[in-house]
Amino acid sequence: MGKELLRLFQDRKDQVGDFQVVGAMRRNGLSSPIESPPKPRDLKEVLDSLLPDVLIDVSSPNYESGEPSTSAYLEAFKRGIHVITANKAPLALHFVDLMGESLKRNVKLMFQATVMSGVPSINLKRVLPASHFISVEGILNGTSNYILTKMYQGISLRDALRDAQELGYAEPDPKLDLNGFDAAAKITILSNVYLNSGATIKDVTFDGIQDLSLDYLLKCREKGLKPKLVATASRSELKVSVVPLDSSHPLYGIDGVNNGLLLRTDLEDILISGPGAGPRRAAYGVLSDLVLLKDSLPKFS
Ligand SMILES: NC(=O)c1ccc[n+]([C@@H]2O[C@H](COP(=O)([O-])OP(=O)(O)OC[C@H]3O[C@@H](n4cnc5c(N)ncnc54)[C@H](OP(=O)(O)O)[C@@H]3O)[C@@H](O)[C@H]2O)c1
Repeated sequence: MGKELLRLFQDRKDQVGDFQVVGAMRRNGLSSPIESPPKPRDLKEVLDSLLPDVLIDVSSPNYESGEPSTSAYLEAFKRGIHVITANKAPLALHFVDLMGESLKRNVKLMFQATVMSGVPSINLKRVLPASHFISVEGILNGTSNYILTKMYQGISLRDALRDAQELGYAEPDPKLDLNGFDAAAKITILSNVYLNSGATIKDVTFDGIQDLSLDYLLKCREKGLKPKLVATASRSELKVSVVPLDSSHPLYGIDGVNNGLLLRTDLEDILISGPGAGPRRAAYGVLSDLVLLKDSLPKFS
């Protein structure tokens, strides 16, 4: 995804403006300029010497501790550096602390790409002022939705998973997609954004599709029901589970690798959907945060 982001910066230069990527921190050190071979460097020292305006995190999630990303964000905030992240783990574990710290330091923490990639699941909130959010429901994991869609058509879970892997939708180890954990991380973030829940991923009750039989899917189909892995956040619950939806449910028609998000407010129900994964789409989520950040700061406009 890092590479796609660099390509997007280049392709959309006119709209994004004149940003310069001053370095890339990899496991084996800093490349600055980014084409140069990485040299071992300490992150604090890198932040002090490069002093970027924005730190962008596109590293893989570490759900044990959220590290090294969580510490990196805190170090960035201390130096007045904004953070844009595609990495769910720090937010699913430490949302309240990280947001609190960014507010205290008067910098922005932006994370559109963590849920539904470039489909504006998080940034939609900006254009819904004065709404009272009652609940958030979503189909938030494209791999499991693809598999359920295939099973509904009569294909076994194992064959559908193999298909998903061949098409590049599933991870080589798809456990976190199948057992509901990835969706649990995403609903944790959404519940904080829309319901101010203060939740962490440890508060989510989650189950996945790993044990569903084809027989169960086909029996549901006979009854006019379509099982979906639905993540739900309300004032009273935070969970991910398989729910057989009837055709009147707004998420019923979200099939294949698509994601869907249903926001119930006191005024109206809002449904958005779109492809929730893929490196270029996720990179667009990051890019959109960057443009919104730029537009919100007098320094850049
Ligand atoms: N791809 C998508 O569709 C998508 C959508 C939304 C969000 N995201 C999130 O965006 C992030 C990037 O996704 P991706 O698909 O590009 O993942 P990826 O292909 O696994 O790449 C992650 C990169 O992060 C590097 N990395 C891991 N730990 C690091 C550390 N401690 N320090 C420096 N670099 C580290 C990895 O290096 P090594 O190769 O050395 O491990 C790898 O190059 C992930 O958090 C992912 O969950 C992805």
